[in-house]
Amino acid sequence: MDKLLIEGGIPLAGEVRISGAKNAALPILCAAILSDEPLRIANVPHLQDVTTMLGLLAQMGVAVSVDDKLGVKLNAAALNNPVAPYDLVKTMRASVLVLGPLIARRGEARVSLPGGCAIGLRPVDQHIKALQAMGATIEIEHGYMHARAPKLKGARIIMDLVTVTGTENIMMAAALAAGETIIENAAREPEVVDLANCLNAMGARVSGAGSDVIRITGVPRLKSASYRVMPDRIETGTFLAAVAATGGQVRLRETRGGILDAVLDKLREAGAQIEAATDSISLRMNGALRAVSLRTAPYPAFPTDMQAQFMALNSVARGTAQITETIFENRFMHVQELRRLGAQIEVEGNTAVVTGVDHLDGATVMATDLRASASLVLAGLIARGETTVERVYHLDRGYESIEEKLSRLGARIRRVR
Ligand code: UD1
Repeated sequence: MDKLLIEGGIPLAGEVRISGAKNAALPILCAAILSDEPLRIANVPHLQDVTTMLGLLAQMGVAVSVDDKLGVKLNAAALNNPVAPYDLVKTMRASVLVLGPLIARRGEARVSLPGGCAIGLRPVDQHIKALQAMGATIEIEHGYMHARAPKLKGARIIMDLVTVTGTENIMMAAALAAGETIIENAAREPEVVDLANCLNAMGARVSGAGSDVIRITGVPRLKSASYRVMPDRIETGTFLAAVAATGGQVRLRETRGGILDAVLDKLREAGAQIEAATDSISLRMNGALRAVSLRTAPYPAFPTDMQAQFMALNSVARGTAQITETIFENRFMHVQELRRLGAQIEVEGNTAVVTGVDHLDGATVMATDLRASASLVLAGLIARGETTVERVYHLDRGYESIEEKLSRLGARIRRVR
């Protein structure tokens, strides 16, 4: 298993390109299922989760080709196996995103239940409830959801809670359903908007994405399209937090303001000077890093996927911060590891109280999930001496060439195989 060795304590400085968004690319790849014509997707990040999704689509009969610029072409004309097997779903929960498009296109889907996940229970009851409201019958047998619907019908769906992939699954199912579907209490994440834009490029009729009411008027078929995936706002936020925490300066290319304002606000509160443009974001750290309290919540509030990175940042900030996690029930696994580097963190229920210390000391730590891994890399960049981050495969699921990009900013980081 790969490890990352980090020699910390160096302020990061320079320029780096931000990749396409993992959480937009994954649903957009699944949208290809909805059509028997090709879908060309640009700016697809080179990540383990994307490879897993392409493998999943290929075993269903989708023709997949990848060009040298990481453009992906998918053609689901010969889709013949509407199944998402356990082996793939267990490694990537987002596999559940094939459920909606498969029923819409094939009238049938067999998708493994995701099962336990390191950061919490993460059920799929909202996906199931909404598809049933659209006329699907769904039986749970042998650990699989077996969904059938000769023709889905539009429905008014009120989500009990805000779910990102739930909203995306239903949007895709509704694109080919008979009549109008209204999703209320829909997720407003920018990745939901990106998927809606791609569906509309394919000829779908989706409006209201980005608000909490999305309307989809079903069409008989979707056609060929080309689409470019939006920048990754979590990768953007992670690099900004790393630079702020090490006291440096950076310009991030091919990303933009307006998709992570809650994160930028918190970085400013921490003492960073930020300029956000339409195709880049620059950050410069002036003076001392100040502690920032935060509470995770659905977009546009502070994202749960940035919580762990801000825990690392706060661990060396001046003052005390309260970090409350409201989305996932078990998302503080990085706390134990950060403590091993000398961070002072107390957890009470879903709130962590972080008291900034003068410095962290390098040590060996273990990554437990994707964003927890990112917080450990940040902590390693901050800490004095050498930090070894084990189980880097979590990081490879969601960050493209992270050690190369950080090296370009002057970090001393290398991968050991
Ligand atoms: C997506 C993101 C993930 C991010 C999360 C929250 C993708 C591929 N992943 O995950 O990076 O951390 O949003 O912003 O886009 N829930 C239910 N029943 C359901 C569905 C969800 O109870 O049917 C609960 C979950 O357990 C969780 C909360 O709702 O507590 C939010 O989950 P959800 O928005 O669905 O997360 P994902 O879409 O899996």
